[in-house]
Amino acid sequence: MNSIMRKKPISAFEADMKKNELNRVLKKWGLTSLGIGAIIGGGIFTLTGIAAHDYAGPALAISFIIAGIGCTFASLCYAEFASVLPVEGSAYSYAYGTVGEFFAWFIGWNLILEYMMGATTVAVAWSGYFEKLLHLFGVHLPITLTNDPWTAATKLGVEGPVMAFNLPAICITILVTAILVKGIKEAASTNNIIVVIKIAVVLFVIIAGACYVDTANWDPFIPQSYTDSLGVFHDMGWSGVVTAATIVFFAYIGFDAVSTQAGEAVNPKKDVPFAIVASLVICTILYILVSLVLTGMVPFDQLDLKAPVASAFEGVGVTWAVFLIVIAATAGLTSVMLVMMLGQTRIFLGMAKDGLLPRGLFASIHPTFKTPYKSTILVGAIIAVVAATTPINKVSEMCSMGTLLAFAMVCAAVWLLRIKEPQLERPYKTPALPLVATLGILFNVFLMTQVRHETWIAFLIWGAIGIAVYFLYSHSNSNLHVRK
Ligand code: ALA
Repeated sequence: MNSIMRKKPISAFEADMKKNELNRVLKKWGLTSLGIGAIIGGGIFTLTGIAAHDYAGPALAISFIIAGIGCTFASLCYAEFASVLPVEGSAYSYAYGTVGEFFAWFIGWNLILEYMMGATTVAVAWSGYFEKLLHLFGVHLPITLTNDPWTAATKLGVEGPVMAFNLPAICITILVTAILVKGIKEAASTNNIIVVIKIAVVLFVIIAGACYVDTANWDPFIPQSYTDSLGVFHDMGWSGVVTAATIVFFAYIGFDAVSTQAGEAVNPKKDVPFAIVASLVICTILYILVSLVLTGMVPFDQLDLKAPVASAFEGVGVTWAVFLIVIAATAGLTSVMLVMMLGQTRIFLGMAKDGLLPRGLFASIHPTFKTPYKSTILVGAIIAVVAATTPINKVSEMCSMGTLLAFAMVCAAVWLLRIKEPQLERPYKTPALPLVATLGILFNVFLMTQVRHETWIAFLIWGAIGIAVYFLYSHSNSNLHVRK
């Protein structure tokens, strides 16, 4: 029992930080840009449709506020941790320094769901938008080259699975992997360009869309539940607003990815906490405005489920904007993948440095590019295979589960560290900590309870595999074990 509760001493983190082999090139706004790069993506460009259409109606803005407040609690806790332990392992490292090795491992294992499943979901979403982009140019790829074997079978109207794979998802994953292997500077510059495009288009949606808002569409702001013509019951009202908040939570995932770039930050103790909170605040404001504009432009029950932002502009006759939005979404999703995959490899690096994963594979840094190239290629290969061959519609829920657990653990761990090590230097302190941490834990655990039964089963199986790997490999290879 003692051995699985062993903690990595704070002095060992400090020694690791001194030995850092990564390139320290990221400053305050570069880090914030990485945060925005990871946050704005599939959530706002696709999930807003289903959240408003099926659950919240115009009150989608309230759902975004609820999810945003919940994430703010977690972000404030992440920010304090990042100022104390500016290391690449993120929540995994925070748990290792406070709660103990087994929990840290378990968090790291769940972060794989957040980062790898997140990037996989986004690769498939990217493929969908890319296909739309090709359609605008009159190019149509065969169904068997743009879908996994099961989805292709459904679309072809035959019994699945058929011989098919998602080629665009493979291509984008290879491209992002290549950028990441080449270097953090290249990754950050690519991300900066995309973030500028993405924010410009989101601002365009808000400003141009505002000219087409008909306030009658906001009335009633919180629609009553109803049964549609097909006999399907739509649970709207306040319960719908809360359900929509659990859906749009996905749109906020990514602010924590900033904490995985601590090893590449020039002044991580100050700039990483700043970037975590700043990227979340900027995106929350943009999200609330976009949802108000969208539900004001067209009646909520006419919003498209797949491409709600583009379709709202089509709905008011501004068809040329569709082109712009599809390009921005395609580029925007690329940067989400970029930061998610970057985060995953840095978490693996942190775990490998501690001996919990094989060093030769996950901690070997390229002599010229200064990036963990083997691990980046492995992560890219797994994402490409899964994205190409798996029906992905439920994967985003697994991603949310892993994230929610990590967020709740970080809220608990930051509190624990305050009690156990009150004397530690904290360049950033979470305000009103017991309250913020408690609300953060309650919010994240509550959202976990809202997830479907099947997702819980998959989540528990994933957890059981993680525990087995820990006891078969990580426990006995841990640096702390060897030292003993
Ligand atoms: N927040 C990211 C997105 O919406 C994961 O795509």
